[in-house]
Amino acid sequence: MMKVIKTITALQEEIKAYKQANKTIGLVTTMGALHEGHASLIKAASEENDVAVVSVFVNPTQFGPTEDLDSYPRTLDADCRLAEGMGADVVFAPTPQEMYPSADMTWVEVTGNITKVLCGATRPIHFRGVATVVAKFFNLVQPDKAYFGQKDAQQVQVLQRMVRDLFFPLELRVMPIIREADGLAKSSRNTYLSAAERQSALILSQSLRAVQDSFAQGERTTAKLLEQVTNQIKTEPMAVIDYVSLYQLPDLTECPVQLSGRSLLAVAVKFGNTRLIDNVILEDK
Ligand code: PAF
Repeated sequence: MMKVIKTITALQEEIKAYKQANKTIGLVTTMGALHEGHASLIKAASEENDVAVVSVFVNPTQFGPTEDLDSYPRTLDADCRLAEGMGADVVFAPTPQEMYPSADMTWVEVTGNITKVLCGATRPIHFRGVATVVAKFFNLVQPDKAYFGQKDAQQVQVLQRMVRDLFFPLELRVMPIIREADGLAKSSRNTYLSAAERQSALILSQSLRAVQDSFAQGERTTAKLLEQVTNQIKTEPMAVIDYVSLYQLPDLTECPVQLSGRSLLAVAVKFGNTRLIDNVILEDK
């Protein structure tokens, strides 16, 4: 029977018992509103570890002042059912007060290009909030493995950097993007889309697939690959581009004129009030 835990004290007791019994722990951190993308992470965590812990916490410190903190969907009962169905042993759903007991606090901040480009350009406090809350969850749960989705490609790079720099003794597992049958990447924010916006949003996965084809056929000129995606997205009248960008992995540094190595092509586009992200990795096999 899965346990739903709301306090840090109760969570720490549970984790202590797992550690004493030498059980390996897989952690999936989420903000709830769970969908098949999260389900794939929870399933992997439960298959690859003795126990799987899922955190459900809409983290206030990663939302900017004009972002959707208040309207972000909160669906704890449904989240617990999905988590249990995927094999979770614990859902940890703390209050903001539990996670941030005082206004004076310690931040974890990854500096450099990695947090300045892409979403960092328009969401300047976002990755500091993400790194801080994920570090708190790592310290509380002490997982052997922690699971994140490639959909949030920049978040993955930032957290990989944090794990390296702060010597967290865990393996970060990155799982593939899960898509709807028509290609739209699964996201908790897809529920905000009207039927027309949802239809328009298909241009993201379509343009990324097309650029993968060009890359496979030998196109390596950074500007041409970017132009191809930008032009295709612009054919969709409802799409308002925030960015279409190519950066080199792992540290999101500028790409040379001709791509080489491993690069991230990432897009953020608004449809109505909803901003969606998607990405592909371009690399020679
Ligand atoms: O990816 C998310 O849902 C959030 O950024 C995370 C990692 C749970 C931190 O709040």
